[in-house]
Amino acid sequence: MEDTMRKYQPVTAVWEVTMGCNMNCTHCGSSCNKPYADELTTSEALSLIKEMAQLGVKWVTLSGGEPLTREDLPQLIKCLRENGLGANVITNGWLLAEKAHLLKEAGVCVVAISIDGTKEIHDTIRRQGSFERDMEGIRLLRQLGIEVGAITTITKKNLANLKELREKLIEAGVDSWQVQIGLPMGNLLKHKENVMTPEHVDEIIDFCYETALDGRIRMYPADCIGYYTVKEQEVKRRSYNAENVLWEGCNAGIRGFGVLQNGDVIGCTSVRDKEFIEGNIRERSLNDIWNDENAFRWRRELKKEMLSGECQKCIYGSKCLGGCANTRLTMEGSIYGENKYCSYNVYLKKKMEEIRRIKDVNHIQEKAQDALQHDEVQVVALLAKHGVALDKNNLELYKLKGYADFMCGNYADAEKSNSEALKLCGEDAYALKGLALSMYKQDKYPLEDVIRLMERANSLNGGTDNDILHDLNLLRQKSLVSR
Ligand SMILES: C[S@@+](CC[C@H](N)C(=O)[O-])C[C@H]1O[C@@H](n2cnc3c(N)ncnc32)[C@H](O)[C@@H]1O
Ligand code: SF4
Ligand code: SF4
Repeated sequence: MEDTMRKYQPVTAVWEVTMGCNMNCTHCGSSCNKPYADELTTSEALSLIKEMAQLGVKWVTLSGGEPLTREDLPQLIKCLRENGLGANVITNGWLLAEKAHLLKEAGVCVVAISIDGTKEIHDTIRRQGSFERDMEGIRLLRQLGIEVGAITTITKKNLANLKELREKLIEAGVDSWQVQIGLPMGNLLKHKENVMTPEHVDEIIDFCYETALDGRIRMYPADCIGYYTVKEQEVKRRSYNAENVLWEGCNAGIRGFGVLQNGDVIGCTSVRDKEFIEGNIRERSLNDIWNDENAFRWRRELKKEMLSGECQKCIYGSKCLGGCANTRLTMEGSIYGENKYCSYNVYLKKKMEEIRRIKDVNHIQEKAQDALQHDEVQVVALLAKHGVALDKNNLELYKLKGYADFMCGNYADAEKSNSEALKLCGEDAYALKGLALSMYKQDKYPLEDVIRLMERANSLNGGTDNDILHDLNLLRQKSLVSR
């Protein structure tokens, strides 16, 4: 248990305090309506806050359902603040006119209002009259000195409305703006045709970039939008005022968790099927649930190799782990699915389309060399894969593929590519070296076998290649240590 505690420390929690709601949005992922019979009582909710504080949680976002429909919400915020935690609220804004001052008195930190378009679009998605109420709510919150955020869930219904909405939000004085993909869950499943397609992701990233450079509102592309693009990173750098903004896998069960209305603890409130519930605070302490070595295994034990499609082969895969789990789950039906809504994935798919059209192996070789010069090793791997499919006797392309597979961290593929190269020329020192290293990285071959291959590569080269000599020395040292 101690190890788990050291390794995983929750910082944030998202708590759906009720499933009751005074709206019925066309995209609502949890089809919220009436409160559930099993919702936590005030005293249960207050003791959960104490447990969160003991566990070291720093920030709690109160969501729902509509959190402002819970009469004791100010009491929960007050208790969070008294226990040293930050308390944010996500609201549809309908009740702000009545309740904003109660949130202020309780000590709320940031209030984020969901705004899905300018008046006509927003009211159609959410509730007639709600855009004007939201604008009034923003005015009130600002008057009270509370930081105001906006959250927009993007579907085909509002994609073209973002620019106009941006001006309205800036005019209203909103400080920060999170945009996220409307994922096909709950009510949105009834209108799947409105879900945006992967090609729209770059449009959104471009929009965020342009807005961030403009500098009038802080942009936050949500965790479902990315990954590893220059523009999205620049947006995050500016908004978080931080240098290290690289995506390193989702926070579920690593640095954060969710709590459902009945006290169920879950990695992410969006990935909420029964199988992802780790326990209930009515039955076990939050500390026990978080520190259970079998908890959050779907996330804590996730490896790139378990993912599908391009995510499984991706050069960023070991860090990224397929981006947002809920995107994979809702779009592909499995948390191990491919994330086709990733900008890098979209880029790779475009490259694959281009490559598939090339029929001349020499042209492929030229393109692969060019990609190599530009450090695009994953594109090299794609080109070489296509090349060896066209010409099964091409030693250079097998070697290139072996190198690129290795650099992408796909060691089993690298082993295979180098073995194919050696079938064509058993005396090729570089293919031997590549085979040795890819076997070593897989950690399943005896070290002596790996060293023997590397020694052969070295002698074939007459002991003149410094890289091979260096690798050989390292392997020999490893062998001495493990003896
Ligand atoms: C579930 S709501 C709860 C808080 C509050 N009722 C509200 O609407 O802001 C939290 C956020 O999730 C967003 N949301 C709802 N359904 C979604 C979906 N299918 N995909 C992505 N986000 C969704 C909402 O628009 C809102 O910004
Ligand atoms: S998105 Fe929020 S406001 Fe809309 S129905 Fe769902 S919980 Fe209610
Ligand atoms: S392709 Fe998959 S693993 Fe690679 S960056 Fe995109 S989401 Fe992450």
